[in-house]
Amino acid sequence: MKILDLAPEPYSLYLQCLEDWSDEMKDAGNKKDLWFKAMEKNGLRVKLAANDDGVVGGMIQYIPIERSHVEGDGLYFISCIWVHGHKQGRGDFQKRGMGAALLNAAEEDARALGAKGIAAWGLSLPFWMKASWFKKHGYVQADKDGIAVLLWKRFSDDAEPPRWIKQVRKPVLVPGKVAVTSFVNGWCPAQNIVYERAKRASAEFGDAVVFTEIGTMDKATMREWGLSDALFIDGKFVRTGPPPSYEKIRKLIGTRVKKLKAGYKK
Ligand SMILES: CC(C)(COP(=O)(O)OP(=O)(O)OC[C@H]1O[C@@H](n2cnc3c(N)ncnc32)[C@H](O)[C@@H]1OP(=O)(O)O)[C@@H](O)C(=O)NCCC(=O)NCCS
Repeated sequence: MKILDLAPEPYSLYLQCLEDWSDEMKDAGNKKDLWFKAMEKNGLRVKLAANDDGVVGGMIQYIPIERSHVEGDGLYFISCIWVHGHKQGRGDFQKRGMGAALLNAAEEDARALGAKGIAAWGLSLPFWMKASWFKKHGYVQADKDGIAVLLWKRFSDDAEPPRWIKQVRKPVLVPGKVAVTSFVNGWCPAQNIVYERAKRASAEFGDAVVFTEIGTMDKATMREWGLSDALFIDGKFVRTGPPPSYEKIRKLIGTRVKKLKAGYKK
């Protein structure tokens, strides 16, 4: 196995989380590309893992924490580590040491860049990105927001633990309209899919729906709301992990539009 830096050739593969086979990814739009181009100038690092035949099976992206969707100082933040685990496309590369090799490479790189430590996020549940996996690799919990755990590994004694940015506001209703508000950062194609679908579905209802995009790549905007990626329909939070289908989002908006038209929007 080899750890590689991101080069132009697998760039589009990286943008699609190595899921070039997936129909879902066709809905991801160009937000990740925009995010990459902005963050590349701000210290974003990406490493890929390839097997002995040169086939890429894993990726990790980490960024100076000041540019990420969490609070911290002098640390790097791993926003995503992913070893392709689906049978489709390039196939299942998990449980062969790629994840550990990517994590080690990121830690070594962050140390060499002078970071005081490295942070990552995971879920306290045994699926998706498990916080327990990082704990096995020496990370400790720094903060918690529901099931979302923020973990870190300290490199120097003067390092301060990272903190979640927590929600402080929610979008307001728009009188006489259905309000669809999409917060989008760009770092996660799954969340970019939600944004693209919500925007497209909103357009289907014409004037009845006001679609608002709130870009959170700008940290001041993110702090103002305490949100990085989220979808609200008439002020109600919609669960977006995993991304709801286009039909589901369209149905949620359509139900509100029907109520609005029936004159009893609540
Ligand atoms: C967490 C994750 C990165 C780990 O990747 P991985 O390549 O499977 O990790 P490793 O191979 O280093 O370790 C996984 C397990 O395989 C075992 N393993 C490693 N090499 C092995 C080998 N050659 N044979 C058998 N088992 C092996 C490890 O001991 C480890 O066991 P454990 O889970 O009981 O501790 C991967 O599971 C993943 O991508 N999960 C989803 C994360 C996600 O949702 N990311 C998106 C967030 S934006």
